[in-house]
Amino acid sequence: MKLPSFLVVAAGFASSALAQTINIGYPTSGTTLHRGKSVTVEIQRPNSIMGCTEVGIALAVIGCSSASSCPSPSQQLGSVLYSGPFTPTGHGQAGYYQNFTVTIPDYLNPGPGLFSLTHLCLIGAGPFPLLEFRNASVTLA
Ligand SMILES: *[C@@H]1O[C@H](CO)[C@@H](O)[C@H](O)[C@H]1NC(C)=O
Ligand SMILES: *[C@@H]1O[C@H](CO)[C@@H](O)[C@H](O)[C@H]1NC(C)=O
Repeated sequence: MKLPSFLVVAAGFASSALAQTINIGYPTSGTTLHRGKSVTVEIQRPNSIMGCTEVGIALAVIGCSSASSCPSPSQQLGSVLYSGPFTPTGHGQAGYYQNFTVTIPDYLNPGPGLFSLTHLCLIGAGPFPLLEFRNASVTLA
């Protein structure tokens, strides 16, 4: 099936803007997350010329048998730690972000894991839904 050209343009626009819309400030890749403990997750919204109306985010973590075998978040999220609104506020030099305090489930196996951020926002007058994923490779301890 041939995609209507406006969709192709919108998809290209969306993917070129991907790096601009949202980032996981913490945990970064290489972080050790302790099972049964709470952790403060920092989700950043970089300044962007592109307006995207926030719908919400999900934060999740999944244990994997090896770091390279973690499923893609678009296929499987694992344990959902938060799902709901994303309403970042300004923190001076640190920019716009929102912190979420979540608890890492104690039933996860120790070892490699993937922390993921799923983000949905709406671009433009259409609007066009932008669904995107970010991740950090973590160690569950
Ligand atoms: C937000 O979370 C990060 C990472 O845990 C932390 O460094 C930062 O101080 C927190 N900011 C606020 C305002 O609590
Ligand atoms: C994690 O994010 C990186 C960088 O965007 C990507 O290359 C990688 O495929 C992602 N990992 C998974 C399991 O989706």
